[in-house]
Amino acid sequence: MSNLRAAITAVNGYVPDDELTNFDLEKMVDTTDEWIRSRTGIETRHILKGEGKGASDMAVPAVEGLLKKRGIDASEIDLLICATVTADYVFPATANLICDRIGAKKAWGYDLSAACSGFLYALETGRRMIECGQYKKVVVVGVDKMSSIIDYTDRTTCIIFGDGAGAVLLEPTTEEVGIIDSILRSDGSGFDYLHQKAGGSVLPPTHETVDNRLHYVYQEGTTVFKFAVVNMAEVSYEVMERNNLTGDDIQWLVPHQANKRIIDATANRMGLDPERVMLNIQRYGNTTAGTLPLCLHDYESQLKKGDNIVLAAFGGGFTWGAIYLKWAYDPS
Ligand code: UT7
Repeated sequence: MSNLRAAITAVNGYVPDDELTNFDLEKMVDTTDEWIRSRTGIETRHILKGEGKGASDMAVPAVEGLLKKRGIDASEIDLLICATVTADYVFPATANLICDRIGAKKAWGYDLSAACSGFLYALETGRRMIECGQYKKVVVVGVDKMSSIIDYTDRTTCIIFGDGAGAVLLEPTTEEVGIIDSILRSDGSGFDYLHQKAGGSVLPPTHETVDNRLHYVYQEGTTVFKFAVVNMAEVSYEVMERNNLTGDDIQWLVPHQANKRIIDATANRMGLDPERVMLNIQRYGNTTAGTLPLCLHDYESQLKKGDNIVLAAFGGGFTWGAIYLKWAYDPS
């Protein structure tokens, strides 16, 4: 076993300018700002507008800003992993399109589909690529243009989601920082409660699938909520416990931003005060694979080298998990 660890050495985020506030949604479906805020914690979300724009149009500025912050050239990237469920195209992978547009000529890359846990799965995969010693610079992107698969006549789902992207750079280190442990899980029987019915090989697009609104997110929210509360909290507690950490040892919880009530339940289980829980759901809603890196981006200036951080997510699949890391750098 090598003593190399994968450390996050830079982070960046991007959300489009256009906003869809709770008050805008009040005019579109039978809902209220009060209901949305009290049931989810969301106040507004950002939406990528414009013909012909896709996930890569958010991922590219996120990654370009990342490279600029670290002061490296795109040609230095070895590998780019893009977590998304709203890829630009069925194929080729959005990772390939991002690499082309940023000029990462020596990189290979691929997309990873794990819905709201996509960034966690991709981070674990990127970590292992670094630890094997062959790759020195791995970019992990989490991006989703959820507005492309949301039914804005369905008040139970359209209020939650937004568009956004975040990216981190992973590099090897022999210091006592970086990614230390992970617990990742999946349970395909969760399909029934959260999925997109058409557009895949089971139900390719037809006039009928479009007419029946089958290309949108289908979610049985209350059931998903119950699974999320239990599993996200349990796995976060488990990763803490097996690394001999108590709530007092954790500086930050970085939770998936789907519903503030799920986040609160996880923080409670871990024994964390609200001040140590990253929260930006009020501004972005649930950007699926984008939530975790967007949190790191927003809180970057408060993170110190050696901080113990737990990232946790739950989402479609079902997929869920938690990653424990020590932050690798001080604010600049
Ligand atoms: O990120 C990936 C995984 N996804 C999640 O983690 C999402 C998990 N689920 C949730 O966050 C919540 O289930 C929702 C926010 C989607 C819904 O909240 P809820 O507290 O579970 O509400 P509910 O679906 O049980 O509905 C409660 C009531 C119902 O009315 P009745 O039957 O009690 O009269 C709904 O029809 O609220 C009604 N309702 C709404 N009312 C106003 C549902 N959506 C809305 C709405 N505005 N937007």
